Amino acid sequence: MDWVRLRLDVDAFDEKEFEPYLQRALTSGIWFTPMTDTPDNRRALYELNKTCSADIPERGEFYSYESYVAERIEVPSFTPEGIIVALDGDTWIGMSATSLHPEGRAFSEMTGVLRPYRGRGLSLALKLLAIRFVRDQGCRWLDTIHHPRNDSAISMNRRLGFIDLP
Ligand SMILES: CC(C)(COP(=O)(O)OP(=O)(O)OC[C@H]1O[C@@H](n2cnc3c(N)ncnc32)[C@H](O)[C@@H]1OP(=O)(O)O)[C@@H](O)C(=O)NCCC(=O)NCCS
Repeated sequence: MDWVRLRLDVDAFDEKEFEPYLQRALTSGIWFTPMTDTPDNRRALYELNKTCSADIPERGEFYSYESYVAERIEVPSFTPEGIIVALDGDTWIGMSATSLHPEGRAFSEMTGVLRPYRGRGLSLALKLLAIRFVRDQGCRWLDTIHHPRNDSAISMNRRLGFIDLP
């Protein structure tokens, strides 16, 4: 499989173009927050991640809740303040999760928006906040990897300025 490996130069990222997506979301009543690590929030994150992941080509069966906690949350790279959540009222409707790694490298683990909320720039607003987080942590590079048929995710990242890694 030729996975699509993408990288953003965070120092060169110009956020002005993407600010309006965030403002429009906020005006429409969607709000954004970094995750706090509580049992209820772990469960909400799991449900959202599972629902959105069902649309990743060839994703296969998702983790059980127990294995999600063991393999994605209770691991050294888990960074709750790097998980930006979008909410409509109390409902978690979008997420962008970033983990931090040595040598100034960050990894975009998962960005997802529930189907009824897609196509209105919410992933760009989420990613803008994720990129600000990465920059504030002093990381220069934000990497991600996608299934070659995941057109929406690949296009979204290219739109933000991600370029192909060899
Ligand atoms: C990928 C995903 C997060 C995009 O969310 P979204 O909020 O609908 O995306 P946006 O409305 O912010 O669109 C941003 C850009 O992405 C691209 N894009 C979004 N949906 C697209 C689609 N169906 N086809 C092609 N490009 C698409 C476009 O470039 C778009 O910019 P434009 O509208 O100015 O052309 C969403 O489709 C999703 O949750 N998919 C399932 C989970 C997934 O595959 N996540 C990535 C793996 S980590």
